[in-house]
Amino acid sequence: MELTDQGITVERVSEQDWRTLRDVRLRALAEAPQAFGSTLERELAFDESTWRERAAAGRTFLALRAGQVVGLAGYYVEPGHEDERQLVSMWVDPYARGSGAAALLVSAVREAAAAEGARTLTLFVADGNDRARHLYERLGFRSTGERQALPSDPLRGEERFALSLR
Ligand SMILES: CC(C)(COP(=O)(O)OP(=O)(O)OC[C@H]1O[C@@H](n2cnc3c(N)ncnc32)[C@H](O)[C@@H]1OP(=O)(O)O)[C@@H](O)C(=O)NCCC(=O)NCCS
Repeated sequence: MELTDQGITVERVSEQDWRTLRDVRLRALAEAPQAFGSTLERELAFDESTWRERAAAGRTFLALRAGQVVGLAGYYVEPGHEDERQLVSMWVDPYARGSGAAALLVSAVREAAAAEGARTLTLFVADGNDRARHLYERLGFRSTGERQALPSDPLRGEERFALSLR
């Protein structure tokens, strides 16, 4: 658990936290639909066992301030890319933006991915999401130049970024 001067801590989610995970993820999808590959509609339909599975995977972190959840980040292994981990679901509540929560969340994911032996941490940023792009560049991620359609809105594009963990 780490602490910034703004009193932010980061904790790994476990199965018992499934309701908290569901609530913050749905808040994120509602607040920033343009930023994510998934959609609020899709995840509102998830049942309890899906949220329990996600929480139990232990690959999600929450940022907290004064007992309130103010952010979320997770990672997963893309099939066929076992030496990489992909950072996903990154969100900080608007009132906690600029607090250092985002950097702490990325650092928690980075450490967890490295501990699993991954060589690279990757992520996708939607076109126009300049705030996120700026954050990731500040933390050392660089564009790989690879592009794809945003799964939630195929008319828009997203770009892959990568950070070496070795
Ligand atoms: C992306 C996100 C997690 C970043 O968290 P945050 O608390 O806003 O991040 P920070 O404030 O620490 O860093 C953002 C940086 O972008 C800068 N910035 C703000 N607005 C910007 C803009 N329009 N263009 C470029 N840079 C911008 C900030 O000044 C800051 O840089 P600095 O620390 O060098 O001054 C948060 O904004 C968020 O949840 N956005 C909506 C969801 C999202 O986009 N998720 C990412 C999906 S890839």
